[in-house]
Amino acid sequence: MGYLCLLLMYPPSGKETTMSRLKTIVWADDCARIIDQTQLPNELVYIEIETAESMYDAIKTLKVRGAPAIGIAAAFGLYLGVRTCPDTDSTEQFLHNVRVTADYLASSRPTAVNLFWALNRMKMTAESLKHESAGVIKKALLAEAKAILEEDIRMCRKIGEYGYAVLKDYTTILTHCNAGGLATGEYGTALAPIYVGKELGKEFKVFADETRPLLQGARITAFELMAAGVDVTLICDNMAATVMKSGKIDAVIVGADRIASNGDTANKIGTYGLALVAKAHNVPFYVAAPFTTFDLSIATGKEIPIEERDAQEIINGFGKPTAPETVKVFNPAFDVTPHELITGIVTERGVIYPPFGQNIKVILS
Ligand code: MRU
Repeated sequence: MGYLCLLLMYPPSGKETTMSRLKTIVWADDCARIIDQTQLPNELVYIEIETAESMYDAIKTLKVRGAPAIGIAAAFGLYLGVRTCPDTDSTEQFLHNVRVTADYLASSRPTAVNLFWALNRMKMTAESLKHESAGVIKKALLAEAKAILEEDIRMCRKIGEYGYAVLKDYTTILTHCNAGGLATGEYGTALAPIYVGKELGKEFKVFADETRPLLQGARITAFELMAAGVDVTLICDNMAATVMKSGKIDAVIVGADRIASNGDTANKIGTYGLALVAKAHNVPFYVAAPFTTFDLSIATGKEIPIEERDAQEIINGFGKPTAPETVKVFNPAFDVTPHELITGIVTERGVIYPPFGQNIKVILS
């Protein structure tokens, strides 16, 4: 599969291991190096990805996951897929290979629009150089993938600053899944305000939903918040209503995989239920996402394709029988939160408030 593993034992308690040092994905030694998130929280394993096929597999099996990180990974994957084409190929042949590789990577996961956004941007870069040689286009593709990574880090930092301005008077924040540094180039989206706050001396307390069935909240959010020295309390998903009823939660903030023109937001399964519970308890419910997560080609959340994943994730949770082997299973990986349940959407350009249909257009134009 073209993986090389670098294994580091990693105690997620040391304050010296801040998120600025945990790199979800980097370009090093002529390949993409990613943290294999399926191994967290037990081991911090970096794998080196050298082919488009290994990148496809890493995205599909959630070694790299989280909407912005998937986009970045796919951009590097596209370059990896065409870098072995001979420089002497005709430009037409080379551009054909770019399109085929992009379509292949785009078929890895359907919901996060960042994947398609990044691959389109890479294709446009290649097409804009159609009068150049294959060798020149290749170099431009690698530079573009690196630019996508760097831009994502800058956008997440801005989301952190705007999000901090919104959350700074609160103390206890609840989040779902992982929309932290490990879901992006760095900082994260929903967790970015927590990290910016930490830098400024604000000590938020975070409640993390464990996030069934693949436990991104327990395995990844708890891990990265502890690594950054943030006070985090883990709860099972079905405890959120009770915790909110007890008055412990000041605000909820989650990430997003795709936001429609009217503000309807797809995110990890369970987010919709959480938004309903927040509404019932008058707890503000924020979404944090960069412009690469907005899909203005669709009017509402009804048009967002929802990934359904393998039944084994529920029947054999982490390799252990957790249900009768032959039981029927429904395993949607995402749900859509209607915009009426969302208080505000924190972006790198500011916070969008209702009416979303109107204000999303203004801020993104
Ligand atoms: O299936 P995953 O782990 O890729 O799902 C991730 C999420 O749902 C995140 O909340 C979302 O991608 C935002 S990441 C900044």
